[in-house]
Amino acid sequence: MTILVTGGAGFIGGNFVLDWLAQSDEAIINLDKLTYAGNRQTLASLRDDPRHVFVQGDIADRACIDRLLVEHSPRAVVNFAAESHVDRSIDGPAPFIQTNVVGVFTLLEAVRAFYGTLSGSPREQFRFLHVSTDEVYGSLSPSDAPFAESHPYQPNSPYSASKAASDHLIRAWHHTYDLPVLTTNCSNNYGPYHFPEKLIPLTILNALAGKDLPVYGDGQQVRDWLYVKDHCHALRRVLQDGRVGQTYNVGGNSERTNLQVVHAICALLDDMHPRADSQSYARQITHVQDRPGHDRRYAIDAAKIARELGWSPAETFDSGLRQTVRWYLDHADWVQGVVSGDYRQWVARQYGSAGDAA
Ligand code: NAD
Ligand code: TYD
Repeated sequence: MTILVTGGAGFIGGNFVLDWLAQSDEAIINLDKLTYAGNRQTLASLRDDPRHVFVQGDIADRACIDRLLVEHSPRAVVNFAAESHVDRSIDGPAPFIQTNVVGVFTLLEAVRAFYGTLSGSPREQFRFLHVSTDEVYGSLSPSDAPFAESHPYQPNSPYSASKAASDHLIRAWHHTYDLPVLTTNCSNNYGPYHFPEKLIPLTILNALAGKDLPVYGDGQQVRDWLYVKDHCHALRRVLQDGRVGQTYNVGGNSERTNLQVVHAICALLDDMHPRADSQSYARQITHVQDRPGHDRRYAIDAAKIARELGWSPAETFDSGLRQTVRWYLDHADWVQGVVSGDYRQWVARQYGSAGDAA
């Protein structure tokens, strides 16, 4: 048996592939375009593992997907491939429409054609799992209830609008063509192998490099932080026992303001890797201009996946963040590897030299 994973050289996809192969002998075909966010170093431990086949390719390349589906006849497709960074989507939305909308459409059409060739048990068991985000629901006020699966879609950024479009395509391909889809909408992930353009790894690496820790606006925006390994476990549960056509919200029960997150990282680093002058890393916090259209609060109601599939996060924010900071301190080689020229140029444009994690 085999599954096809797309975007498995990225942050969550890479963790998913590593976790999957640590727990199962079922092979993975890993299709990834290797954009700036794709990093084969994350998968270095699988270099000689026959259970992992890496293919560099694009979910918008119909011929490539057709070939992989026919050649490997996977029992499931898990789609992580996406452009994923809100700030980049504001800077240049075109790749977000191309991959998150056109790419998902192309993938769906290829999978629909392949599914049409199946019969009997392979057809009954086939699943297409689409990994999406809570950002499709828009922004909450402090007193609003967390997002349930029934919450209306109100995406505010080019990124979240492109993911919302992909979710609608997935839904329609089930409703119209009976494609056996599953969708998950998760909150902000954090953990090992996270590209240092996102808040948590950027803060850790800038702190260690003696650079400013850029906090957008007043830093009171709230995210519901989910440790990536808990997310991978939730995806395995949904793939195994999720009801076809359903969506499942996945969250960490860990709402924090951005300032709380940055202070928590500083406190951990003060303890685990003190500054040479014994001052707190919190001295490096700098408030910078806010993100345009910045969503104020995301929060997930994960009652459905708990009730139906018995999933809840194993890590608290404190335990997950401690493991994450430890991981970055112990993996300087991986960190050096991701600090590519392209990333350097983009970060310099975004923050000027103060925010450059390179
Ligand atoms: P990421 O940016 O780290 O990785 C994306 C991966 O997809 C990269 O390896 C990239 O090379 C690959 N890719 C991009 N375009 C491609 C294409 N056209 N064809 C094939 N591969 C392509 O993203 P991530 O943080 O790992 O997120 C994975 C998924 O989870 C995304 O769909 C994202 O929307 C969703 N998500 C992420 C978070 C989060 O906090 N990171 C939260 C909720 C949902
Ligand atoms: P991010 O990690 O980009 O995820 P998302 O925008 O998908 O939630 O950002 C998390 C929060 O942190 C978000 O409110 C924006 C904020 N942020 C900063 O304050 N400073 C930064 O340097 C970055 C990258 C993000």
